[in-house]
Amino acid sequence: MKSIKVFAPATVANVSCGYDVLGFAVSQPGDEVVMHLNSSGKVSLDVIMGDEGRLPRDPAQNTASAVVINYLKHIGVAQGLSIELYKKMPFGSGLGSSSASAVAGLVAVNELMGRPLTREQLLPFAMEGERLACGYAHADNVAPALLGGLVLVRSYHPLDVVKLPVPEGLACALLYPHVEIPTKEARSIIKSQVPIEDAVTQWGNVAGLVAGFCTGNLDLIGRSMQDVIIEPVRAMLIPYFYEMRQLALDHQALGFGISGSGPSVFALCRNEDAAKQVTQVLSGMLSEKNIGCDTFVSSINLEGAIMC
Ligand code: HSE
Repeated sequence: MKSIKVFAPATVANVSCGYDVLGFAVSQPGDEVVMHLNSSGKVSLDVIMGDEGRLPRDPAQNTASAVVINYLKHIGVAQGLSIELYKKMPFGSGLGSSSASAVAGLVAVNELMGRPLTREQLLPFAMEGERLACGYAHADNVAPALLGGLVLVRSYHPLDVVKLPVPEGLACALLYPHVEIPTKEARSIIKSQVPIEDAVTQWGNVAGLVAGFCTGNLDLIGRSMQDVIIEPVRAMLIPYFYEMRQLALDHQALGFGISGSGPSVFALCRNEDAAKQVTQVLSGMLSEKNIGCDTFVSSINLEGAIMC
């Protein structure tokens, strides 16, 4: 194989109560990487489309290529590669844009090299891409983008990730209001101390959410999508967050929350029709307030990144 094209999906990190430990992949949007082998002995980033010139052109600074450089170093191969990155999702949006690029790059190079590493073994390289993008190597976007489905990061030291079952038919409504919140900033405003009462509420909800996914209990999933630690701080950065949540819940969303570090928000719904209805009412409300947005309705992506 000399060339390959890989699609890696957007992801919803945190899933409300699981800051840095839970995330799921959606079917769309996502990023594409096209990669060609060559004899230059170097990794070059030759095309970036869809970023309006805003992403780094230096291969060592762009997540799609930086992770590939580290990967090749690790497997000890001085392979020349040309990378084309097609950004097909908004960035600075809370939809895991930097992880989609990194994961697409890693899956592509791993395939071209004859798949010496498993998807799980690619995870630490993808996490380093997150460190480059936002200063912290969190795994709750890259793990679901690589593995698909809903992933629990049970531990960071040592790294232990668990792919959880996803109830059939579950759908996600995503809405990206056109305001930008860099992940670095959204992390810097979080309080470093948590009152024990809030911690008790939060771990009850994390356990409830995991139990809901494992048993297919949609009402339990909905009840557990409550974040008393991170969301109250970050919601202030998102226009009409609480109004959107009320509207979504009034229109049959099981639960509603911030996608990753925002400003995107998401609702889990019983099926795609319900998710469509939620995106319609929310985007209608924002448009009345003169705030533009993009919406996506998607099933949960069980496969993660794929060759296309
Ligand atoms: N867990 C990360 C955060 C996800 O909330 O900062 C960033 O998309």
